[in-house]
Amino acid sequence: MITINEHYLKLQASYLFSDIAKRVSSFQENNPDKEVIKLGIGDVTQPLPKACTAAFHDAIDEMATEAGFHGYGPEQGYDFLREAIAENDFRSRGADISADEIFVSDGAKCDTGNFQELFSNDITIAIPDPVYPVYLDTNVMAGRTELFKDGRYGGLVYLDSTKENNFVPSLPKEKVDLIYLCFPNNPTGSTISRDELKTWVDYARESKALILFDAAYESFIQDDSLPKSIYEIEGAKEVAVEFRSFSKTAGFTGTRCAFTVVPKACVAFDKEGNSHSLHALWNRRHCTKFNGVSYPVQKAAAAVYSPEGKAEVKALVNYYMKNADHICKTMEELGYDYVGGKNSPYIWIKGDIDSWEFFDMLLHKAGVVCTPGAGFGKCGDGYIRISAFNSFENVEKAMKRVRKALQ
Ligand code: MLT
Repeated sequence: MITINEHYLKLQASYLFSDIAKRVSSFQENNPDKEVIKLGIGDVTQPLPKACTAAFHDAIDEMATEAGFHGYGPEQGYDFLREAIAENDFRSRGADISADEIFVSDGAKCDTGNFQELFSNDITIAIPDPVYPVYLDTNVMAGRTELFKDGRYGGLVYLDSTKENNFVPSLPKEKVDLIYLCFPNNPTGSTISRDELKTWVDYARESKALILFDAAYESFIQDDSLPKSIYEIEGAKEVAVEFRSFSKTAGFTGTRCAFTVVPKACVAFDKEGNSHSLHALWNRRHCTKFNGVSYPVQKAAAAVYSPEGKAEVKALVNYYMKNADHICKTMEELGYDYVGGKNSPYIWIKGDIDSWEFFDMLLHKAGVVCTPGAGFGKCGDGYIRISAFNSFENVEKAMKRVRKALQ
């Protein structure tokens, strides 16, 4: 008899964004004449930078020649991309990361979801609340939690991110082994200062813990005093793995390219307390389960670091940040309390009703899709997240409708 991994039965019925998509389709079926504006899932809408599409085209033309054809590439990514990443994203900011510490992949969602495979099942995990659901669900699937009760899984240490702590969690009271952090934060859009991040790095060093740092939204940071990478903090290389993505930075959500940095100095321990290189373990996993990102996509990603690519990416980020600014201003004028939107494409808004009710109200009265905060955890209840990823025209139109619905 074929039996299932019963840990899957502990999961909530469906993945948050699939759940929202179903509600929106049903609304559209019942209201075919109403135009819906999507500011829910953080999916980009603007075209790829021209530098990227030109490199993409060239690489495809190369593939059509005998000399330029590429079969399987290196699983870890081509050197031209790994070198460009190490130089531009890290060394230029004083973070000493080498090209061979970078693993190119098809998405930060997969990498943040898969990385937990390297750890034993009895570790103690600290997970922020609210949180990007992937970190949580993949640990549930792996059997690292107890049942879901009163809005939380047993067996985890939740790190509350609330207005009281400025949406930056404090160190846990109990000892933990694995810590998930995401800054600029998804979903709240909050940021972490160098000093605050140093506190976490110091904690991880003292307790032989590991930080999984999701920096997928770093390109939206406008304030130069904020760290873009955890490796800008002294000592982080031994205790942190960092996830990055071209999805939001350069509009690659449909093109698929991301990378994970696993420094060679980063270790985890066996039951006897002997240290093992996480770089070696992740390399083993990556080579076994992944066959690399296609050559044209990696060429397109490398073009992000050309002078034209850099200028276009900056313009793209500025475009979405103008949307974010418009959303923030509307919320301010309506008297709503919010965080985010200054160094992040997400705006986290406090309502005075339950967050699914708030979601339904905006959908039905304004035809605007947001994301209910409760979908990201117990501390998200009462909040909604509005994403700045859409055209400015749509954001303007959506905010006019939201204003009417909320006034
Ligand atoms: C989000 O809306 O939270 C993200 O776009 C989801 C993702 O990147 O997978």
